[in-house]
Amino acid sequence: MRRKVIAGNWKMNKTPTETKAFVEELKAVASGKDNCDIVICVPFVDLQAALEGTKGTKIKVGAQNVHFAPSGAYTGEVSAAMLVDLGVEYVVIGHSERRQYFGETDETVNARVKAALEAGLKVILCIGELEKERDQGITAEILGKQTKVDLLGVTAEQMKNVIIAYEPVWAIGTGKTATNEQADEACGIVRDVVASLYGKDVADKAIVQYGGSMNAKNAADLLKCENVDGGLIGGASLKAPDFGVIIDAAQ
Ligand code: PGA
Repeated sequence: MRRKVIAGNWKMNKTPTETKAFVEELKAVASGKDNCDIVICVPFVDLQAALEGTKGTKIKVGAQNVHFAPSGAYTGEVSAAMLVDLGVEYVVIGHSERRQYFGETDETVNARVKAALEAGLKVILCIGELEKERDQGITAEILGKQTKVDLLGVTAEQMKNVIIAYEPVWAIGTGKTATNEQADEACGIVRDVVASLYGKDVADKAIVQYGGSMNAKNAADLLKCENVDGGLIGGASLKAPDFGVIIDAAQ
């Protein structure tokens, strides 16, 4: 039985002041909901406020990106060691918005994944097909390629610290959710790829989340799917009551 992981991806939302207030609300709605892991992935400047606010609770804090180099002349970037030093536990890597707007490729995603794992961070690796690719019938191939290349050089031992978020690009921020069957099938495909790389035992334990317009209304059904081990939630993670309903659904 895999434990569900409910992670919020705030994207470029909330100031540190708003973070402080939100965390208080979230603590109230998350209190006693011990049957899933809860993570909030916040902008870099909100990390400190999120870490301070969640101290002593089971709510974990993540960043939304990390650079692959340990240090150096990379203006505007943040290293894995910097995140670890701050007390950050998770990092989202390879989100489709980074791939779409910031030139991320499977190669740079792979470099970031390895740097993050080596530094001791837990990774939420995002993969997913475009609408065109689904229409072309190549979803499995795309998920296979992304999973294989993004995880190149990652050991079976390190896979304990990797969550894969299946996020069909056409469902992100669009209000268009994958059906339960589509989500379950795609998460199952990802698990099969993990099995082909690391064996059944690692694949059976791997956390594969669904992300893409998951909300308070559809979460319960999506989370019932055998292969869906949680959610990476954007818009609906920004309001504590909605995020709370999703956390409830994961109990
Ligand atoms: P959404 O975003 O829930 O707003 O669709 C999900 C994500 O991008 O992780």
